[in-house]
Amino acid sequence: MIDVLSVSSEVYPLVKTGGLADVAGALPAALSSYDVQVRTLLPFYPAVKKLVKKAELVVEIEELFGGAARLLAAKHAGLDLLLIDAPHLYDRPGGIYGDPSGKDLPDNWQRFAALSFVAAQLGQGLAKPYRPDVIHAHDWQAGLVPAYVEFGPGKKKPKTLMTVHNLAFQGQFGPEIFKELHLPPRAFSMDGVEYYGGVGFLKAGLQCANALSTVSPTYAAEIRTPEFGMGLDGLLRVRAGQLHGILNGIDETAWDPGSDKNLIAPFRVSTVTKRAQNKLAVQNRFGLQEDGSPLFSVVSRLTWQKGIDLLAENVDMLVSMGAQLAVLGSGEPALEAAMQAAAERNPGRVGTIIGYDESLSHLMQGGTDATLVPSRFEPCGLTQLIGLRYGCVPIVARTGGLADTIIDANTMALNAGVATGIQFSPVTANALGDALRRAVRLYHQPQVWGQMQRRGMKTDVSWGASAQVYAELYHSLLGRTPGDAHKDD
Ligand code: ADP
Ligand code: GLC
Repeated sequence: MIDVLSVSSEVYPLVKTGGLADVAGALPAALSSYDVQVRTLLPFYPAVKKLVKKAELVVEIEELFGGAARLLAAKHAGLDLLLIDAPHLYDRPGGIYGDPSGKDLPDNWQRFAALSFVAAQLGQGLAKPYRPDVIHAHDWQAGLVPAYVEFGPGKKKPKTLMTVHNLAFQGQFGPEIFKELHLPPRAFSMDGVEYYGGVGFLKAGLQCANALSTVSPTYAAEIRTPEFGMGLDGLLRVRAGQLHGILNGIDETAWDPGSDKNLIAPFRVSTVTKRAQNKLAVQNRFGLQEDGSPLFSVVSRLTWQKGIDLLAENVDMLVSMGAQLAVLGSGEPALEAAMQAAAERNPGRVGTIIGYDESLSHLMQGGTDATLVPSRFEPCGLTQLIGLRYGCVPIVARTGGLADTIIDANTMALNAGVATGIQFSPVTANALGDALRRAVRLYHQPQVWGQMQRRGMKTDVSWGASAQVYAELYHSLLGRTPGDAHKDD
């Protein structure tokens, strides 16, 4: 059995802003079949305190980046949690990264250096007898973990895995913070945390971890190029031998169209026609005409990454083809405004809800005909996986994990009976327009469309296969093979 400490700034169902939370929330259970037990380290944010009422004290920490803290243990929704209770760092109004207006908190470097610091201390026996064999760090917020392990004391150190969920967020700060990170001076170098003269949290993780991964094979290849590497491609090319691309899955109990309480009419492959009732409910919710038009949906952060501007350029064309569009999301103010304006221009045909609504996102996947993911880059993407499972045909840009998970309905794939969605490339407004036209044509061939939906629903989007790959990776870091009976200390 291997003990893994998973370190993440968000974990579903406790606190979520995006797919990272879904992954950190679902992977532990999936790994339990593969000789791996996971504890998850998370800040005890106010939102988490509301959900986790019973937590036991593990250890008091006298001083953690400017105040006293406590490490607590709790179980919740099948997760084995370690929670950092440090009100001076985590008790803030607003979201987990920003103030109520959405602006990044100025002390985020301290808040997440503390998360990483405690993780590394756990590796040194802070909560003895517990000592993880492997620390699995997710994204920049946990990026300092491998640096703290490498430059910290201790003879027998845990192995570290750094997973990139999104290279666009790197945690880059000025050099002046270095002296407060509790790292030795030699860590401020190219082989450590130094990055373009400042401190790079994600860079540190990528530099110092024993192994690296990202969330799809295609993104693992893309980030080694200047186009997608966001300045880190050189380092990633050097470390290509340690970089793995492992596809995300989804939690099939949280996302089960057959028992989903958010749907008006739950359905299975054999009863997929029941989706029509959910469609009416979506149309009603978004103020759309309740007719049989092809209904497209977007459930997304409304950002440049997600190609929402490309969609905005196509909305009127989509409406002129007789289609409808329902948009749920929030993000960049200009893109929110563009989607709201599209709805105002096209009453009854386009509806936009600005906000975050987990329950409505389920209904949209279970009731709309197709889910749009026109991302400029997409490390993995979960909405298209959820779309597959819910018979909501994914229309996606051919990039990252979207390229790896959807089989485009080209003539050959349709003839061979393997298509599960529509892909387009290059990622431009024109190519998206072509994809939307293709989708509407296919929608009007109910047999072909129905086959695509059912095929998608039968596609394996579970964690099974990928959890096994993670387990093998942890085992290989420790020089073991899965099934080895004993921990060696
Ligand atoms: P990312 O993590 O880049 O935002 P993913 O596709 O990996 O993209 O994951 C997004 C997750 O967040 C999915 O579970 C999706 O359903 C959810 N989501 C995104 N926006 C919203 C929203 N406005 N309301 C509800 N769920 C949302
Ligand atoms: C990031 C990526 C997304 C991925 C998610 C979970 O937020 O943008 O593509 O699915 O992390 O790995």
